[in-house]
Amino acid sequence: MIITSAKRAIVKILVLVAERIDVTKMASGHGISLMKGCVAMLVISASDIRKVINMRDAIESDREAFSLQSQGKAQIPLRVVFDVEGRGLSSFMPAYVSSFPQAGVKIVSIFSGNIAKNLPVVSATVLLIDPETGIVNALIDGTELTRMRTGAISGLATELLSNESSETGALFGTGGQALSQLEAMLTARKLLEVRIYDTFHERIGHFIERASETAHVFGARLKAAGSPDEAVDGADVITTVTTTANPVFDGRRVKKGAHVNGVGTYEPHKRELDESMILRADRIFVDNMEAIMAEAGDILIPMKEGKFKKEDITGELGDLILGNAPGRTSEDQITVMKSVGFATLDLVIARKIFDKAVEMGIGTNL
Ligand SMILES: NC(=O)c1ccc[n+]([C@@H]2O[C@H](COP(=O)([O-])OP(=O)(O)OC[C@H]3O[C@@H](n4cnc5c(N)ncnc54)[C@H](O)[C@@H]3O)[C@@H](O)[C@H]2O)c1
Repeated sequence: MIITSAKRAIVKILVLVAERIDVTKMASGHGISLMKGCVAMLVISASDIRKVINMRDAIESDREAFSLQSQGKAQIPLRVVFDVEGRGLSSFMPAYVSSFPQAGVKIVSIFSGNIAKNLPVVSATVLLIDPETGIVNALIDGTELTRMRTGAISGLATELLSNESSETGALFGTGGQALSQLEAMLTARKLLEVRIYDTFHERIGHFIERASETAHVFGARLKAAGSPDEAVDGADVITTVTTTANPVFDGRRVKKGAHVNGVGTYEPHKRELDESMILRADRIFVDNMEAIMAEAGDILIPMKEGKFKKEDITGELGDLILGNAPGRTSEDQITVMKSVGFATLDLVIARKIFDKAVEMGIGTNL
């Protein structure tokens, strides 16, 4: 009797182990997603993402995505946006990279009424398509993925363009994207101090509290700035990640040799960086020229006023990576990176997250 139940237990364990092995194979093997006739999908949550990649991995992922994009190896059709009965917008951002190969889509919804339901106003999900079968084989939290890849844009630009001797940072904006921007800044350069500024002053203290562990890991001090001037004066690396319509600091105060990342605000009539910042820059890089020319008021407003030309943009960051555009050549030059984001960044990091999750056995199989 005892032997029989022990046998049963062993058989059960063996079945579970066998299934586990199948599941691992199924996800890692060349994207095979069939087990006993069932289609499996790996669900990767925000906390799973953090278990499998760090900011350094995200920076390297963005480096690859920029390079693929600038070599013409990625396709990013225009995003499709649906207005859902006035309740909100759902956007679909597909991408395809032939060299992996990999196709996928990021879905982002903005439903303001969700506040009343205690649900997030902005939600994002990335779906990956198995290149062997065309079946969706991964569903990844798009909010955390976006934070990582967006922080990494600035991290990469800071690494490529700022002076290595940079010691002081300034961060404008303390919202959802701010922590990964701080982490990226600190990953790229050994900053001793980062000044934090937000128009809602009470948010500054909350952010510093939230970010203190990250700052501690990198040995940096976070300081609340009482004004934009206080944040920007003498700063070597400046990142703006706000939702403002109007410039967040006076570009005339930026020191020679500084590097600036403009990350937030993406509408043609809105800008974070003022005209003097754009006109004083010796090098201006963008993430994706087509998207910037459609969305970035920081560039489009001075262009409309005849003070700046498209040709004044040094290039896409991918051109710099490929050696097709000049980077910083002197310690005194001011460099600017303006990003609005594009789907190749999402797809490349999604694939890295998926591969790593499969390798480490992280995520939930459906
Ligand atoms: N470049 C990209 O790829 C990319 C990716 C994701 C998000 N974004 C953009 O980044 C921006 C920030 O996103 P989020 O999720 O952190 O937004 P959020 O709403 O959570 O936070 C924005 C913060 O900016 C602050 N702010 C507004 N005006 C300011 C000003 N003049 N000076 C200082 N602070 C100011 C607000 O008080 C708020 O704390 C948005 O515009 C978003 O669209 C860009």
